[in-house]
Amino acid sequence: MDFLALKNISEQGMELVNPTSPEKVLRVGEMAGLEAGWQVIEFGTGYGEVLALWAQRFGISGVGIDIRPHACQRAEQKMSRLDLVERIEIVCGDAAAYSFEPGTYDVAACIGASFIWGDFHQTVRHMRPAIRPGGRLVIGEPYWRQALAPPDYTRGQTAVYTEYELLQIVRQEGFHVASVIRSSHDDWDRYESGNWRGLLAWLEANPDHSERQDVLDHLHDSQDEYFRYAREYLGWALYVLQ
Ligand SMILES: C[S@@+](CC[C@H](N)C(=O)[O-])C[C@H]1O[C@@H](n2cnc3c(N)ncnc32)[C@H](O)[C@@H]1O
Repeated sequence: MDFLALKNISEQGMELVNPTSPEKVLRVGEMAGLEAGWQVIEFGTGYGEVLALWAQRFGISGVGIDIRPHACQRAEQKMSRLDLVERIEIVCGDAAAYSFEPGTYDVAACIGASFIWGDFHQTVRHMRPAIRPGGRLVIGEPYWRQALAPPDYTRGQTAVYTEYELLQIVRQEGFHVASVIRSSHDDWDRYESGNWRGLLAWLEANPDHSERQDVLDHLHDSQDEYFRYAREYLGWALYVLQ
């Protein structure tokens, strides 16, 4: 089973699929200065939860792009349920290939999806043309909590930086870090547990499925990684760049 199919299963009971909370997503919206009528583009929108929260609280409009048809479908259903279809468009496809009118957005966001372009640095570079002069970038990104994470863990995570390295990249690209909203261990526990519950619910409902072992392996791998390394060494934060 491929990785995105496993995510469809693990995230079945989740709306926001990052180690953060609706409160923090709203707070970062406030820090970015979101106002009614502002246009926002989100690359890797998942189930559209960030845009839905911002649309309901701040009155923004915009577009969210995701490569997974299952996620797009859920996001579209959500916008319809919340009466937001007129304001939030969901586009299903590769966000790296999405062509936008340069300088048209007040805010460009990429929350936990910088792998779309490879890493944080490429994400800043690729999103910059989307915003108007004075616009903001909002990026949700993992970082090393300690510069000396064990090499057998860091080897598989080449696109993760320390926060100091992230700061240097931001400045190099001509931005300032305006705000940071870090995730707590509770945010991480809630996010990881949400994924495990989704996998366990599927395992319970599919005792004879031919791909059961893939799902079980994914559950065990993600728990091994979390308890052994990630909880200790991996941080996550929302950054506003201006
Ligand atoms: C960790 S989730 C974050 C979703 C959302 N931003 C949130 O915070 O709830 C990352 C999303 O990026 C999507 N994705 C992965 N590669 C992509 C690509 N090339 N173009 C668009 N979306 C992509 C995945 O399908 C997934 O829904």
